[in-house]
Amino acid sequence: MDDRYRGLKPEVAAFCKKLDDVLQNEYDVILNDDDLRTACVVAYAKKNMLLVGPPGTGKTTFAKALSKVSDRKYDRITVYPGMDITDIYGDWDYRRQLLAVQSGKKVEDVYSKDYYIPGPAMDALEHNGILHVDEVNRADPDIQNALLELAEEKQITIPMLGTIKGDLQIVATMNEGDVGTSPLSSAFLRRFVRIDFEHPNERNFARALIKKYGSKTLDKVNSALERLVLGE
Ligand SMILES: Nc1ncnc2c1ncn2[C@@H]1O[C@H](COP(=O)(O)OP(=O)(O)OP(=O)(O)O)[C@@H](O)[C@H]1O
Ligand SMILES: [Mg+2]
Repeated sequence: MDDRYRGLKPEVAAFCKKLDDVLQNEYDVILNDDDLRTACVVAYAKKNMLLVGPPGTGKTTFAKALSKVSDRKYDRITVYPGMDITDIYGDWDYRRQLLAVQSGKKVEDVYSKDYYIPGPAMDALEHNGILHVDEVNRADPDIQNALLELAEEKQITIPMLGTIKGDLQIVATMNEGDVGTSPLSSAFLRRFVRIDFEHPNERNFARALIKKYGSKTLDKVNSALERLVLGE
């Protein structure tokens, strides 16, 4: 099994083993050796990553496992066409601001952190967290640009509030076959390391099934299939 980490520097291999253990033991996900190794190297280097692959290949799970292993908060954005930037950054709590002003507070005093509802990006910046941006290929150009800026500068600037900085790492995920979505700009693609996740190979698929259902259940399924196919 340690063969899975071959060729990696000892510190990266140790990190990779931890990730692999969490993926397998807590989430029942067994990534293929190559996918795991590449993803580990990139994650260890704290690069922003773009995981691409068919549904159910462990992309989301990888982002969660990474947050667990590196002990960094997990924040998530699920992108959709027409999404507003405030869904990423956050927004003013207008109701509370209004109530405060009505009860005598000065207008300039209600533009502070106390009156702001942080969105996932702000939360991730404040906690040096992992920001999982799911369905990133559904992002309109303005949202792509905002994400790009976030990836590059690791900060956001909110008018009247100021600049929030932090050491976040972005894990963007997408299904390549998704139709009706905006293609990611080359500027975006240059700033994220793309890793393609494949379905588990036969060996890993069998392993995952045995782990999840136990070999006895699989024996039963096997004999049921044989009966079906052989018509006995
Ligand atoms: N490599 C794998 N080995 C075993 N099981 C897997 C693997 N990948 C995914 N699964 C199973 O599929 C479930 C869903 O995985 P996950 O949500 O991480 O996939 P995803 O790639 O994010 O899919 P989607 O594109 O639909 O969001 C996991 O909880 C696990 O049970
Ligand atoms: Mg997912």
